[in-house]
Amino acid sequence: MADDIACELSSLANNAAFNSSKLSIALSGGNTPLTLFTVMGAVYSSKTDWRRVEFYWSDERCVPPESHESNFRTAREAFFDKARIPSKNIHRIKGEEDPVKEAERYSDLIRKRIPVKRGLPAFDVILLGLGEDGHTASLFPGDEKILESYRICEVSEHPATGQKRITLTLPVINNAERVIFMVSGRNKAEIVAEILNNSGSDFYPASLVAPWHGKLYWYLDTGSASLLGQLA
Ligand code: 6PG
Repeated sequence: MADDIACELSSLANNAAFNSSKLSIALSGGNTPLTLFTVMGAVYSSKTDWRRVEFYWSDERCVPPESHESNFRTAREAFFDKARIPSKNIHRIKGEEDPVKEAERYSDLIRKRIPVKRGLPAFDVILLGLGEDGHTASLFPGDEKILESYRICEVSEHPATGQKRITLTLPVINNAERVIFMVSGRNKAEIVAEILNNSGSDFYPASLVAPWHGKLYWYLDTGSASLLGQLA
């Protein structure tokens, strides 16, 4: 699964390089993408001209960049350092800053750097993970204010830990050219089946990801796909 996604991102990056254009990729957080980042760093660095790629995040925990909980740190250690990605191509969310101010700063950065389509920034690729509760990025079930927001970024709060997060909003996610869910593990099988068998209520933020003009991809491993077709 990681190799399939890394291969897709590599070819998108090489096409961008060939066309002397730029590619914007918003990386997901949590544990699942670690294998992807490792493959991108170890296998695809020599085959990919990453110089045309600008890296952003779908969400970030409000922790310092050296924290083990930092989504930036995960990507830096597994991918950026190995592939020697120039720091000017890396636009991390500054988890160490005041969350409200940082959400505004990051929204401004995105507004300035990402092409606009239908009045909103249109990322080329947005990577997403999926929580067992149906959350994605840091959009959590029941957080209506954030789920209805038309801002670019919002400050959210993890329902169990209270940890502040900064997240892209649903309109920005749904305005992307490609949205890629990457879900691994048997513990995600129930939520994946509920969402993909369309029995998932709109209660789940991940069910609300439906790109307006772009393409939606679900990359699943055997564990997370193991109940598809059974919970219909
Ligand atoms: C985060 C992520 C979050 C994650 C899911 C799945 O910052 O934690 O953005 O949405 O993708 O919680 O996490 P795992 O990959 O660790 O299962």
